[in-house]
Amino acid sequence: MLIVIRLATPDDAEFLPAIERSAAQTFRLIEGLSWLAEAGVMSAERHRQLITLSTCWVAVDADNQPQGFLSAQLYGEDLHIHELSVIQTLQGQGVGRQLVEATMDAARSRHLRAVTLTTFCDVPWNAPFYQRLGFERDSLVKPDPRLTQILRDEYGHGFAPDSRCAMVRRVSR
Ligand SMILES: CC(C)(COP(=O)(O)OP(=O)(O)OC[C@H]1O[C@@H](n2cnc3c(N)ncnc32)[C@H](O)[C@@H]1OP(=O)(O)O)[C@@H](O)C(=O)NCCC(=O)NCCS
Repeated sequence: MLIVIRLATPDDAEFLPAIERSAAQTFRLIEGLSWLAEAGVMSAERHRQLITLSTCWVAVDADNQPQGFLSAQLYGEDLHIHELSVIQTLQGQGVGRQLVEATMDAARSRHLRAVTLTTFCDVPWNAPFYQRLGFERDSLVKPDPRLTQILRDEYGHGFAPDSRCAMVRRVSR
């Protein structure tokens, strides 16, 4: 399928919650995380806010219909990925990789320091996926306070101890 990555527009927002729901079905494969397939997703309203900031990208098909998205937000010199989702039937075909690389290109052209995120350490399509794309675990010696706080909040919301990690990919200038 021909896929094009472009900045999201406000009209895309209504389609993104269903994409996140479809993507999350893949967590049914992981014992202990299948509840994520039923968990709440980012609202269309929240998507609209991030789209206004020009920090959300969509992967669209030949009919300009979103099939995946990467939603991020700027924190100082870092662009933080809140969510990356590709509809389940299109996973494993390079769409997630293209969304991440488009985000890296945007971070580079905006002269940012890094792209950051938090994710599951041991889910194959989470930390290992990002690692293959050049992300590294945030420093254990001198952790980024913003990322440390996000992890603390995630554990506060009930994620299993040590299941999450923060990752950073520096922008090459
Ligand atoms: C994570 C996600 C966006 C990746 O998108 P994708 O289009 O499936 O990924 P790609 O096809 O670009 O794959 C990139 C790499 O990840 C690997 N990968 C993708 N899905 C995988 C899976 N289910 N199991 C193992 N590896 C997987 C691919 O093999 C590929 O590695 P390679 O280039 O070394 O072969 C997608 O799997 C998804 O929506 N998952 C559910 C939601 C989620 O976990 N989001 C991330 C939250 S931090």
